[in-house]
Amino acid sequence: MNKPQNRVFSGVQPTGNLHLGNYLGAIRNFVGLQDTHECIYCVVDLHAITAWQDPKELAANTREVAAAYIAAGIDPEKHIIFNQSKVSAHAELAWILNCVARVGWLSRMTQFKDKAGKDREAASVGLYDYPVLMAADILVYRATHVPVGEDQKQHLELSRDIAQKFNNDFAVNGGADFFPLPEPLIMGPATRVMSLRDGTKKMSKSDPSNWSRITLKDTADDIAAKIRKAQTDPDPLPETVEGLEGRAGADNLVGIYAALAGIAKAEVLKEFGGKQFGVFKPALAELAVARLSPITGEMKRMMENDQGYIDATLEKGAERARAIADPVYKRVREIVGFI
Ligand code: TRP
Repeated sequence: MNKPQNRVFSGVQPTGNLHLGNYLGAIRNFVGLQDTHECIYCVVDLHAITAWQDPKELAANTREVAAAYIAAGIDPEKHIIFNQSKVSAHAELAWILNCVARVGWLSRMTQFKDKAGKDREAASVGLYDYPVLMAADILVYRATHVPVGEDQKQHLELSRDIAQKFNNDFAVNGGADFFPLPEPLIMGPATRVMSLRDGTKKMSKSDPSNWSRITLKDTADDIAAKIRKAQTDPDPLPETVEGLEGRAGADNLVGIYAALAGIAKAEVLKEFGGKQFGVFKPALAELAVARLSPITGEMKRMMENDQGYIDATLEKGAERARAIADPVYKRVREIVGFI
C-alpha cells in the first residue's frame, strides 16, 4: 500500500448557520490547497450528533455544507467531497483508536470542557470522544496535512499522539510507521472572525443574536445591514495596526476587510486610516457583498433547485473515499490481529 505524500483531510460540521467565520476560517482555505494537494473534504455528520440535531435539519445542514464547498470553488471531480456517515471505516477505526487513546489525554481537551459547560455529567459520551473520531477521520486516509483553525490545534496534536502510539504499540505486528503523523496547516492571520456585536467573542452559530454573524444564507441587504449595525467605537480608524489594540470591534471589521480583499490589515489602514466608520462600513459592505454573493447565490440555487446534484456528488465522493479508506482499514485489522 503506497503512502500518500500530500494528502489533505478536513471537515466542517453540519450544525446550521454556516457563517463568515466558517468561510474565511476554513472553507476558503480548503479551496486554495487544491492545486498542490490531493484533498478530501468531509461534512462531518457523525461529529454533529455529539450534540442533539433535529434529523430533518441535519439533512438540510449536511447539504448546505456540501453546497458551500462546491460554491466556494472546491472541485468535486478532482477532489473528494462527501459526508462522513457514508464511509463506515471512520467509525470502525475510531473504535480501535478508542482503545489506543488514554482517558488522561482526552480529559485535557479544552474544547470538551468549554462545550460540556458546567453540567459535564449530562454531556454525551460522543462529545467526550469527539477528538478520537477526528483522529480516525484523518488517519483512515493516512492524510499528511490538515487545515484547521486555532481551536482545533489541540485535537490535531491528539491525533498525532494517537497515531504515534498506534505505530509503537503495533510495531510488533507490522504497524511501525503505518500512520503518518498529520501536520497542521494553520491558516493565515485575520481568519479569526469575531461577533459583530462583541469583538471579543468568536462569531458563532449559536449566538442568540442574528446580528452577531453574517451567514451564507444572507442576502446582499442583510449583509449590508449587519455591517452597518456592527459594534464599533466613535473614533476614526487608526493609521497603524497597533492602533487597533483595545478596539476589538474595529479590529474585527478591519480583519474581515483584509481577509475578504486578500491583503494585510496594514494595507487596509493605509487606505482607511483616519477615516470614520461612516466611510469604512459601506466600503466593507460593498466588498463583502461582492465576494460573498456569488457563493451564497450559487448555494441557494443548488439548495432550492439542484438537491439531486448535491446528493449525487456526496454519493460519488463517498464511493471514492471508501476506495481509499477501506484498504487502510483492512490493513489496520490485520495489524491489530483481527481475522
Ligand atoms: N472538529 C472540526 C471542527 O469542528 C471538524 C472536524 C472533524 C475535522 N473531523 C476533522 C477537522 C478532521 C479536521 C480534520 O472544526
